[in-house]
Amino acid sequence: MAKSSSFSCTACGATFNKWSGRCDACGEWNTIVEERPLSSGPTSKSLGAKRGTSITLSDLGAVEAPPPRTESGLGELDRVLGGGLVPASATLVGGDPGIGKSTLLLQAAAHFARKGLKTIYVSGEEASAQVRMRAARLDLSDAPVQLAAETNLRDILTTLEAERPGLAIIDSIQTMWADNVDSAPGSVSQVRAAAHELTSFAKRMGVSVILVGHVTKEGQIAGPRVVEHMVDTVLYFEGERGHQFRILRAVKNRFGPADEIGVFEMTGNGLSEVLNPSALFLSERGDPSPGSVVFAGIEGTRPVLVEFQALVAPSSLSQPRRTVVGWDSGRLAMILAVLEARCGIPFAGLDVYLNVAGGMKITEPAADLAVAAALLSAREDASLPADTVVFGEISLSGALRAVSQAENRLKEAQKLGFTSAITPSGGKSAGVDGLRLTRMGDLTTFVGEVFGAG
Ligand code: TYD
Ligand code: MG
Repeated sequence: MAKSSSFSCTACGATFNKWSGRCDACGEWNTIVEERPLSSGPTSKSLGAKRGTSITLSDLGAVEAPPPRTESGLGELDRVLGGGLVPASATLVGGDPGIGKSTLLLQAAAHFARKGLKTIYVSGEEASAQVRMRAARLDLSDAPVQLAAETNLRDILTTLEAERPGLAIIDSIQTMWADNVDSAPGSVSQVRAAAHELTSFAKRMGVSVILVGHVTKEGQIAGPRVVEHMVDTVLYFEGERGHQFRILRAVKNRFGPADEIGVFEMTGNGLSEVLNPSALFLSERGDPSPGSVVFAGIEGTRPVLVEFQALVAPSSLSQPRRTVVGWDSGRLAMILAVLEARCGIPFAGLDVYLNVAGGMKITEPAADLAVAAALLSAREDASLPADTVVFGEISLSGALRAVSQAENRLKEAQKLGFTSAITPSGGKSAGVDGLRLTRMGDLTTFVGEVFGAG
């Protein structure tokens, strides 16, 4: 049976046998495009019909000591990688166009090269002269990085095979063109094929590769999610255009903890490391105001304090607005429902806006109590004391659940000058010197004690 053309989603890579406007797998609109089959050879013959060569098997215990990791000296990057670059690994760095991926990787390339790792930087988007100009701006012109501006994958692999670098950076995977695949650069099959070639090259030749992938909103270009499963480590570079700081977040890491973050600040001459993110996120905090609550969070292994801001105002709409930035809107709906059903505090007829200050994205359920506190504080027009941090998960029954790493959260709060904390009563954590703990078992108690209502 001849293989007919198929359709795939450029956002998540799911394949379908007919076109539709919306991808069933990821729910994105207008991302499904027609793809030619990867190979036009016969596909009906089973693999067993022709014998292959037998492969060598080995014992589990026969593992050699892992080769040493290379640290770049950019501490925030090394941390997110799990303690430095693993030899022969494949890493994907995704992010919105213009967020600073090329800047980050050029700086990383220079750092690794200065540490003695032979580094090649291949740009498929910029001419060598443009990369050199950027390097001059970043004051990296003297770093021993080898540069190429090329998109032909076959030529790139041949060069890498001859040069045998320790690290090859490919900026970006969407511009690479494999001449054995019959579709345009940036299509799902091209991006997949290029990523597959590069990752298997990494394993075979012992070269670490870092692939840059632009996050695409819609259209004909495949996004980085299409290749996430092929690489060892997936990092996303996030941030708001209007804010200076950028977060490098590990969403998958075969060699280290996932969810780890590195924090950078975009300056006039490149990215600089932010060693104390909590101080940065709280730096613009003024006097205590209604709706503002500081949450003691954990990102990966490190504690980060951030400010939740809420605004609650009478609505003129039949269906009041629920606008959330930096937090999950489904989770907000749940907390509003718990406040109404368990504590008798309705938000009907009120617009609710919730924002995480500084453009940070929070995903921990441990922020539930801080969100509830911000909503109540805004609704009652009463501010919480400025020296108080809040954390705890809220269950549908209105009970407060203990969260992980309470002690680390408290220590960070104490370090930044906070003197009291409101936490769930469960859990084993001991207190921290200099920090007054108020433990509560459920949301109703919290409402009553903190806002004198409920
Ligand atoms: P870039 O690394 O080209 O983004 P990406 O590769 O993710 O598309 O970053 C581009 C932005 O960064 C651009 O808007 C300018 C800004 N920038 C600085 O603010 N300072 C700098 O030193 C550099 C090199 C870039
Ligand atoms: Mg770029």
